Amino acid sequence: MPRTALILGATGLVGGELLALLLADPEYRQVTVLVRRNLPQAHPKLVQRVVDFKDLGKAADAFSVDDVFCCLGTTIKKAGSQEAFRVVDYAYPLESAKLAARQGAGQYLIITALGANARSSVFYNRVKGEVEEAISKLPIKSLHIFRPSLLLGNRQESRPGEKIAIAVMKPLGFLLAGPLKKYRGIEARTVAQAMLRTAKRNLPGRHAYDSDVIREFGS
Ligand SMILES: NC(=O)c1ccc[n+]([C@@H]2O[C@H](COP(=O)([O-])OP(=O)(O)OC[C@H]3O[C@@H](n4cnc5c(N)ncnc54)[C@H](OP(=O)(O)O)[C@@H]3O)[C@@H](O)[C@H]2O)c1
Repeated sequence: MPRTALILGATGLVGGELLALLLADPEYRQVTVLVRRNLPQAHPKLVQRVVDFKDLGKAADAFSVDDVFCCLGTTIKKAGSQEAFRVVDYAYPLESAKLAARQGAGQYLIITALGANARSSVFYNRVKGEVEEAISKLPIKSLHIFRPSLLLGNRQESRPGEKIAIAVMKPLGFLLAGPLKKYRGIEARTVAQAMLRTAKRNLPGRHAYDSDVIREFGS
């Protein structure tokens, strides 16, 4: 049966890779993206919907698909405050998961981050953990949580801190061995590939994957 997908965050590093993979995959007949502004690309399988993320309910019908992929995210610096960060990394994903549950989407797949923990003293990790916990309470038949480490890839936006981390991580990643392996940087493309392959396995229940497992699935 040909599948349908919805992506939130399709203009992002992982979301963009995922969009390309889904459009090229013959198992998917339609890929809808919810975006703030139209993408320059056109494709026979691609449906673009420009939405106001503060009012996602207006696009509720878009969630009646087989697989919803949430690749949304920002940084505190870009968002401007912790509160604004929380809107993008907690409120929008949670609202999208509620809509997915309500519209009977088959699967919900979301990227959080390695170290996500609702009881963490680190704000970023706490928000990521809180969104995982909130979504896990929803009646979603199949929930897949991806917790990557530092994302590697061609980012247009300038993020100096991330650039330094990548410059250190790339040559020294091999030093992270055994249980530390999950802290090695991971290519955005690998995360996207792991999300796609996981969706196609159709496993019911709740599953969470740390970066080392994502690498295994996506390589
Ligand atoms: N960067 C890392 O090393 C790292 C590590 C672990 C986990 N993660 C997590 O992995 C996920 C994907 O990361 P990424 O680097 O691929 O993300 P990204 O490139 O920053 O893309 C983020 C996506 O979210 C959308 N978005 C941001 N603010 C929005 C807003 N206010 N309203 C609507 N949409 C908004 C962006 O849309 P626009 O194009 O419209 O802005 C874009 O599509 C995120 O949840 C991130 O926290 C990242």
